[in-house]
Amino acid sequence: MVRVFINGYGNIGRRLATALSMDKEVQFVGIAKYTVDDKVKEALENRFNVYVPEEMISAFKEGGFSVTGSVKDAVKQSNIVIDAAKEGEGYDNKKSLYEPMNKPAIFQGGEDRHGDRAVADMIHNSRVNYSKAAGRTYVIQGSCNVSGMGRVMQPLIEKFGDRIRRYDVELVRRWADLEDSKAVKDSIEWDRNPHHQDDVKDFISNANLYVDAFKVPSRMMHLHQMFIRFSGKAPTKDKILECFRNEFGVAIISSAKGTGDVRKKAIELGFAHGDTNMVHIHQDILRVQDDTVKIAYSDDQTGMVIPENHMLFQSMVFKRPREEAMKRTDSLFQMSKKRRILEEEFK
Ligand SMILES: NC(=O)c1ccc[n+]([C@@H]2O[C@H](COP(=O)([O-])OP(=O)(O)OC[C@H]3O[C@@H](n4cnc5c(N)ncnc54)[C@H](OP(=O)(O)O)[C@@H]3O)[C@@H](O)[C@H]2O)c1
Repeated sequence: MVRVFINGYGNIGRRLATALSMDKEVQFVGIAKYTVDDKVKEALENRFNVYVPEEMISAFKEGGFSVTGSVKDAVKQSNIVIDAAKEGEGYDNKKSLYEPMNKPAIFQGGEDRHGDRAVADMIHNSRVNYSKAAGRTYVIQGSCNVSGMGRVMQPLIEKFGDRIRRYDVELVRRWADLEDSKAVKDSIEWDRNPHHQDDVKDFISNANLYVDAFKVPSRMMHLHQMFIRFSGKAPTKDKILECFRNEFGVAIISSAKGTGDVRKKAIELGFAHGDTNMVHIHQDILRVQDDTVKIAYSDDQTGMVIPENHMLFQSMVFKRPREEAMKRTDSLFQMSKKRRILEEEFK
């Protein structure tokens, strides 16, 4: 049994906790909380051990919450930490906890890959560079958008290779997650320097890729519009869709009118945390025009990266072949089943 601790219990941490605590190969150490609030109650109700910074133990106890120990204790007794800290905090955790105690860690996509606060020298995408993570000590799991782009681009690269000249992606990003308390601002905001382009190039280095990102007032998933330019005439719509018929974590759907339909359906169907854990290609608006294919797919922002973390964990810890890891991840998240259900619901 591998002892795993999840440092953070926000949108990503709580989903990781649900999944990892059900994995029979894992002895789940618990989660970390840094603020005394209702989420502590939720974690305790889920029977997770709660660890907090040493200096805050008394504040949590005064708040009426039972605390198992300090974050440092939890890291000490773990074989690997999945860091789910709020964006940018992972670096300090690495320096103050993981490195001094020689503990391997997985970081999330909000952490830096380059520069003074880089936490790792690799970004993982299970479709592209799963085996490269085998046995590594520190790896970043690509963010939801970056994971989605890799999942769509790699099958196309394998099928059409250098017939593809260029990718342009417009990321239409949700403002906040469903559980976030922050207000959704009525504005469309642009990102002057989206990190996604460089992040994808970390694992698909030769991609001629250009990304623009816009944040819109919605809580319901991201939508990517990807323009793929071919040398000469582009392949037919059928040929493009064929690439994705057996892709893990990709659903092909037709009748959704927007991202909200997909999210609400996942909630209605009782999927854990209302997540589909995948990208959904909207084939009704997939167009082929001259040398260009236009694919639009929605990307389950909160759910996408959870099975990705599970895949990465298996590569780092067990160095397991990808096919075998995928089977285990599928069994834990029921992704093939969810895909079948979504394709039927939105046919
Ligand atoms: N949300 C998404 O859709 C999404 C998708 C893909 C990747 N990511 C990435 O995943 C990471 C986490 O995002 P999130 O959405 O889960 O953020 P979040 O909901 O804001 O949660 C952040 C968590 O970090 C905890 N925290 C605070 N200080 C910490 C520290 N020093 N060490 C560890 N944890 C600390 C917070 O604890 P308290 O609440 O107790 O203060 C909170 O539980 C980010 O890198 C983000 O870019 C997010």
